[in-house]
Amino acid sequence: MTETTQLPILVLGGTGKTGSRVVTALRARGATVRVASRSAEQRFDWTDDRTWGPALAAVSAVYLVPLDGVPTGPAFVRRAVDAGVERIVLLSARGTDVPGYFAADDPGNQARLDLEAALRASGIEWTILRPGWFAQNFSEGFFRDEVRAGELTLPTGAASVSFVDTEDIAAVAVAALLDPGHAGETYELSGPRAVTFDEALAEIAAVTGRQARYVPVDPAGYTAELIARGLPELDASMWASALNGIHRGLEAKISDGVQRALGRPARDFTDFVRAAAATGAWTA
Ligand SMILES: NC(=O)c1ccc[n+]([C@@H]2O[C@H](COP(=O)([O-])OP(=O)(O)OC[C@H]3O[C@@H](n4cnc5c(N)ncnc54)[C@H](OP(=O)(O)O)[C@@H]3O)[C@@H](O)[C@H]2O)c1
Repeated sequence: MTETTQLPILVLGGTGKTGSRVVTALRARGATVRVASRSAEQRFDWTDDRTWGPALAAVSAVYLVPLDGVPTGPAFVRRAVDAGVERIVLLSARGTDVPGYFAADDPGNQARLDLEAALRASGIEWTILRPGWFAQNFSEGFFRDEVRAGELTLPTGAASVSFVDTEDIAAVAVAALLDPGHAGETYELSGPRAVTFDEALAEIAAVTGRQARYVPVDPAGYTAELIARGLPELDASMWASALNGIHRGLEAKISDGVQRALGRPARDFTDFVRAAAATGAWTA
């Protein structure tokens, strides 16, 4: 990067599963960081564009975590270019460019495709990360409460998933934000091996002593069940659409992005389980 390297790097979703790790890793490399989200020090809301200008003022680069289903990404990219941002690293998702991976009427995937296209056409340096399902869904995300309660219910059949550790996603993001050689790259990211939900829960039980069982349910009617449980309709349909890729076996694929970007293998699910257990993710 050029003379503006000393300017801060804006990290959107800076309190989330990848953003918080990007913040830590950037600081470890001596970079100045502006942490942004609705609850962060720099208030940023995807649904309120008055918060975008202050977040984008005098930053060199952006780690961009989009809000699923919100179509304002391309407008944000234009604002970033106008503000003088030199480089954007986008967190997208695996399967985004594969027809049928997500449900055809999934507004989340259309918004992601539009955002990727806007970034490629922006004229500034860009890197796109397309991770599969995060391992940290078990310890910090959607699966955690059910794992702690002893029963994880999903419409995903007997499929296996090459869960990617968000530490790896952050490491790739930081390399792309700070180092040369990643501009114009699209990195598909996964872990080095696929595990079934039964195997994943058995690994967690082996380390924590806490048993949880996987309960596969019929995908038909799952969205309606989520809505009945109180999830907003849009969130329920995007969630079911994202799980569709797992159910169809597409998330078992091993992707080479971590190796390509960092020159080392991706972290294994077992390493994730040990690290998360040590923080008390399932027992505290
Ligand atoms: N989870 C997965 O397995 C997975 C896999 C592939 C791709 N992805 C993609 O990764 C992205 C993040 O997913 P995640 O669910 O794991 O979430 P996350 O990054 O753990 O959390 C969401 C982040 O966005 C912020 N946020 C929420 N609403 C916001 C708003 N209206 N305006 C600005 N910031 C907002 C949150 O902070 P505040 O609440 O403080 O605003 C938080 O920092 C999504 O685009 C998703 O499609 C996820």
